[in-house]
Amino acid sequence: MTRPRLLINFAITADGKTSTVRKDPAHFTSKADLHRLLEIRKRADAILVGRGTLEADEMSLTIPAEHEPAKQPLRCVVSRGGSFDPGHKIFRSKGGAVHLLATDPRPDYDPAVYEKSGATVHTGALPDFLHRLRTEYVVETLLCEGGGSLVRALADLDAIDEINLTFAGHTLFGGQDAPTITGALGEHLPRSLEFELVRFDPQDNGECFLTYERKR
Ligand SMILES: NC(=O)c1ccc[n+]([C@@H]2O[C@H](COP(=O)([O-])OP(=O)(O)OC[C@H]3O[C@@H](n4cnc5c(N)ncnc54)[C@H](OP(=O)(O)O)[C@@H]3O)[C@@H](O)[C@H]2O)c1
Repeated sequence: MTRPRLLINFAITADGKTSTVRKDPAHFTSKADLHRLLEIRKRADAILVGRGTLEADEMSLTIPAEHEPAKQPLRCVVSRGGSFDPGHKIFRSKGGAVHLLATDPRPDYDPAVYEKSGATVHTGALPDFLHRLRTEYVVETLLCEGGGSLVRALADLDAIDEINLTFAGHTLFGGQDAPTITGALGEHLPRSLEFELVRFDPQDNGECFLTYERKR
């Protein structure tokens, strides 16, 4: 499949969780973690999130001017049914062009609602969208910032090339139903995916920055 190089970035707790059972906003890490996220965003031509993360974390998916971005990455949001909130700040904030993907739109889904605010609306399967980002929108590097449900689908496709983690050793969320980077505990992947640890960078605040590369 022709697709962008795909990076993911997550903060995980000492018990390997990315959120609470209630899927509260993920505000459990540090300024250094935010700085690192913004540096990773600067490498990306586009950012991709699931609708759940966009809404839980009230994201605008931009790089602040003080970080001197060479460009603002495209902002891509994925939903099955297309239940994007038309009042969400992504439709009002300045930043990269907004692309919405509905993989299985509800009968009453109305793309015109979002097109009015300048968004480009896509329907179809996730792999086709990745292909289109690479071939039509020249996205070489795509950063997925979660959540776990979306990353699980990307892992099923073996489409993840680099994993960036902030291990937040100071926090535990707990609970069988608290999600991991591949979502809720459930079925194994179709096969194990092997990654190589290429960066191990302990911080002095109980956190550690880790980067893994997919071994192919
Ligand atoms: N610790 C971290 O670094 C981090 C990072 C990201 C998120 N989080 C946390 O994770 C929680 C959200 O997790 P989540 O798993 O619910 O988030 P998610 O994957 O962002 O959102 C789930 C929603 O995204 C859409 N979606 C997911 N996979 C899809 C696929 N394969 N095809 C089409 N649409 C798909 C669906 O939307 P529809 O319902 O509209 O169909 C689904 O309900 C929040 O608490 C957030 O703060 C933490």
